[in-house]
Amino acid sequence: MRRYPTLRWSDDAPEILDQTLLPHEVCYLRCAELDTLAEAIRMLRVRGAPAIGLAAALGLARVAVQSAAVSVPELAGELERAAGVLGETRPTAVNLFWAIQRMRALWSREWGDPQELGRAAVAEALEMMEEDRRACRAMGMHGAALLPDPCRVLTHCNAGYLATADYGTALAVVYVAHEQGKRVSVWADETRPLLQGARLTAWELQEAGIPVTLICDNMAASVMAKGEVDAVITGADRIAANGDTANKIGTLGVAVLARHFDIPFYVVAPRSTIDLATASGRDIPIEERASHEVSHVRGVQVAPAGIRVFNPAFDVTPAELVAAIITEEGVHRPPYGDSLVRRH
Ligand code: MRU
Repeated sequence: MRRYPTLRWSDDAPEILDQTLLPHEVCYLRCAELDTLAEAIRMLRVRGAPAIGLAAALGLARVAVQSAAVSVPELAGELERAAGVLGETRPTAVNLFWAIQRMRALWSREWGDPQELGRAAVAEALEMMEEDRRACRAMGMHGAALLPDPCRVLTHCNAGYLATADYGTALAVVYVAHEQGKRVSVWADETRPLLQGARLTAWELQEAGIPVTLICDNMAASVMAKGEVDAVITGADRIAANGDTANKIGTLGVAVLARHFDIPFYVVAPRSTIDLATASGRDIPIEERASHEVSHVRGVQVAPAGIRVFNPAFDVTPAELVAAIITEEGVHRPPYGDSLVRRH
């Protein structure tokens, strides 16, 4: 099965697979400057909650190793400013803030000199990538155990390896089930406005040799009504303490449909996506993006010039619609207020 690294560390700088060019071109963007990386996150060149966090960690590691600071406090100040820039890029995926906080714990400690802190920052960011790989694999194992054989999965947006260090979250379940010999196939919602389902999920599953069928977002009800979906599996950008889940805009509609058609709706996400400090979905900040993403498709205008547009990037699925939240620790079942706090 062919997979390309979503992120890599090369010659002391992060490189990201530029996802805005997919599925046409596999091209890596070297982010030697902080502004290049911040722009890449903002423009979704690198996207998906875990990958955004890892990109920020690698970006901070880059700042730490290339700094000319002559003292540890001076370097810590530079890192704090860089963290401020990265923290402004996208508000919803909590993994970004989790990753920044984890890197901040490093520069809050004592170090002999800036070089030592720099080396430690690189090691920490690379360790976070490894942990994410292990977490995704574990989520895949836990989730695959829930799927019947054969199984037709419907997913929304991209929660595949492109959204993580490897394997993915929702799609890790599909990959592991496939490896285990289960006959698993996927309905991929195209996911307007930015088409992560059509451009990314359809591409990575096809490359991996997993049977995948692309549908427009407004076709999900129809395939469910025909009895052609056994499970809905999505990722998450932030899960509140009560289990309410923010994910790509359109997820809520899919969850409502799944409930109507009595299909289990599973959310798959690492611990770093669970935000126990946020009580419920009402408190999750929802990113609003530029109007041209809706009025235009891949640069072509499809609506009247000057039309008013509403473009929230995420919606919140209430916990009551979620059959299980699968993390690297195992399968959390309702009531999530208890099960998310109690680690397995
Ligand atoms: O705007 P994006 O492409 O970053 O949104 C990504 C999603 O909503 C994914 O479904 C979510 O991050 C889960 S990724 C493992």
